Amino acid sequence: MSRLPVVILISGGGTNLQALIDAARDGLPVDIRAVISNQPEAYGLQRAQQAGIPTVVLDHREFETREAFDQALASLIDSYQPNLVLLAGFMRILTPAFVRHYQGRMLNIHPSLLPRFQGLHTHQRALDAAEKEHGASIHFVTEELDGGPIIIQARVPVLPGDDAARLAARVLEKEHIIYPLAVRWIAEGRLSLNSAGQVVFDNQVLSAPMDLDKVDS
Ligand code: GAR
Repeated sequence: MSRLPVVILISGGGTNLQALIDAARDGLPVDIRAVISNQPEAYGLQRAQQAGIPTVVLDHREFETREAFDQALASLIDSYQPNLVLLAGFMRILTPAFVRHYQGRMLNIHPSLLPRFQGLHTHQRALDAAEKEHGASIHFVTEELDGGPIIIQARVPVLPGDDAARLAARVLEKEHIIYPLAVRWIAEGRLSLNSAGQVVFDNQVLSAPMDLDKVDS
């Protein structure tokens, strides 16, 4: 199978990036053409370099406006001609023009069971809300922040004695499973976003997000 060209955007530690790098090494049919970070210090850049993947820093602080940064970012991404853009802990709010440019071609991972807990500090907020269950979601990116059509979610229990760090670690383990899985489905041509903004999987419109515990992975 030919490998799907992808570009991955990060801002931090890059454990999801590492999961994708490892999956690609183990046969996930993607060609990671570049890793781009808006943070010069992001540890994920080293992960990419160790894997021999080109890295670029595009520091948002060097741009006057969000629009100017996003335009430069889109030009940079497009220079690698990816079919898919993966946000992997990329902590920037994106402009509508940028998001529209990658309609149906950009995925995000978010550390909550969306639509619960959009935005930041999701683990602490789940604890504060006394949730029994928490998790992570993979979704297509649309103009609504953390609001695009959800592909798959993974659930974890919230356990007695949890703090945000322990809960985050439990969620991250699941993130590292569902991101490569969703990317595989796209690479295999099984998953897409239709013109009505619905997720299509194996020729069926999804009526609800898939659940990791219920899919054959
Ligand atoms: C992950 O938990 C990811 O879901 C989250 O940032 C973390 C990045 O970790 N993303 C967001 O909060 C996006 N709004 P990583 O750098 O180790 O992959």
